[in-house]
Amino acid sequence: MERYIKQHIDPEGPYLEALYRDTHVKLLRPRMASGHLQGRILKMFVSMIRPRQVLEIGTYSGYSAICLAEGLEDGALLHTFEINDEQEDFTRPWLENSPVADKIKFYIGDALELVPELGVTFDLAFIDGDKRKYVEYYEMVLKHLSPGGYIIADNTLWDGHVLEEPHPTDRQTIGIKEFNDHVAADSRTEKVILPLRDGLTIIKKL
Ligand SMILES: C[S@@+](CC[C@H](N)C(=O)[O-])C[C@H]1O[C@@H](n2cnc3c(N)ncnc32)[C@H](O)[C@@H]1O
Repeated sequence: MERYIKQHIDPEGPYLEALYRDTHVKLLRPRMASGHLQGRILKMFVSMIRPRQVLEIGTYSGYSAICLAEGLEDGALLHTFEINDEQEDFTRPWLENSPVADKIKFYIGDALELVPELGVTFDLAFIDGDKRKYVEYYEMVLKHLSPGGYIIADNTLWDGHVLEEPHPTDRQTIGIKEFNDHVAADSRTEKVILPLRDGLTIIKKL
């Protein structure tokens, strides 16, 4: 089915194809990169929402950052944050040589510390960082999101583990389950979960 879907949606294009390949050849945990289908979905969401300022928490190899930036209108910007400074040598050239380089600002550091210092109000945020910190990201992002703005949170079904009782040391499953419960009970937002890939939650600030 995945092959069929990929044959019937827009191609990712040669640049993203090469980045996806390089991610798999050179980096640890390449499965973290969004890939063809999710990348096209992110671009489509951006072109539907038409945000002026977009935030991404968790750049990794830059795949999703380029997809988000592809959907932006002229003059709109993506601010993407990566906490792992060892990632910079790989990711910065891929972002700076991409066709959407002028739409991307890449920061190395903890989004939880840096975003509040930026003084930017975002219209869309893509949360894809440390699964243990999703509730913290959510609360921080809501403070810097315009009314009517959106959050897209990745991996919210966590390979189906959300249905299980997590082992006390499995902080990632615990973090995702806490996030899902927290969001579900939050009257400040509307929310829906798309059972796509590893689960995408779409949240609208009221
Ligand atoms: C799943 S990967 C991101 C994948 C990328 N968004 C994509 O779809 O192609 C998660 C990344 O978040 C980074 N990260 C974790 N905590 C972070 C934080 N507090 N601020 C910024 N980046 C963070 C990790 O180092 C890792 O590279």
